[in-house]
Amino acid sequence: MRLRNVAAGDVEAYVRMRCDEAMMAELGGPLPREQVEERLRKDLRLVAEDGAWIKAIVPDGAEDGAAAGVVTLWQDEEDGATVSEIGWMVLPAFQGRGLAKAAVRRVLDAAAADGRWGEVHASPGTTNGPSNGICRALGFRLLGERDVDFGDRVLRTNHWVVTPGEHRRAPDGLGSDGLGSDTD
Ligand SMILES: CC(C)(COP(=O)(O)OP(=O)(O)OC[C@H]1O[C@@H](n2cnc3c(N)ncnc32)[C@H](O)[C@@H]1OP(=O)(O)O)[C@@H](O)C(=O)NCCC(=O)NCCS
Repeated sequence: MRLRNVAAGDVEAYVRMRCDEAMMAELGGPLPREQVEERLRKDLRLVAEDGAWIKAIVPDGAEDGAAAGVVTLWQDEEDGATVSEIGWMVLPAFQGRGLAKAAVRRVLDAAAADGRWGEVHASPGTTNGPSNGICRALGFRLLGERDVDFGDRVLRTNHWVVTPGEHRRAPDGLGSDGLGSDTD
């Protein structure tokens, strides 16, 4: 698996991820198809400004570099404070292979090296087995439950937090090679 910045050619992957009811069930619901290009443009601007890391997950053997999922690390204002947050998604055909866990771990490895993100928060739905499994496996601490607004929906979430560097890093030599700077 490797990570690369999202790119203008990721429209189809965005459609499959962001316009799908099941994929978006816990992320505010599906995005209307006609809003996808604007959403991708917004993400590309954020990446260009280095305001967020939005990384496409490319499985081993993917000839065309097509995205199987995405991991996003960004910052938000919450009660007047800047908070770092991380989220992830993997297309159904690629789920259950450890891709999301490996990708989140690699982003946290890079965030530890980068040093600017501070504590990183994650808010998976309380019933999201795989996402809560990822948080638990990577050493996030569970602070409790809370309601989070996603679009016009309110989701009951688990509030997890981790300090990059204190997370469970990849075993030596595995996945510790940063974020695929060859393609960034
Ligand atoms: C959540 C999601 C990203 C998981 O992707 P994935 O690549 O299939 O995840 P992984 O294969 O890395 O598995 C993650 C862990 O969850 C575990 N897991 C899988 N299903 C599980 C379940 N129902 N209950 C508990 N743990 C589960 C896996 O065993 C794995 O842990 P392990 O490696 O220690 O065994 C994917 O299902 C998805 O995109 N869902 C829709 C969008 C979404 O919900 N995003 C997250 C919002 S916070």
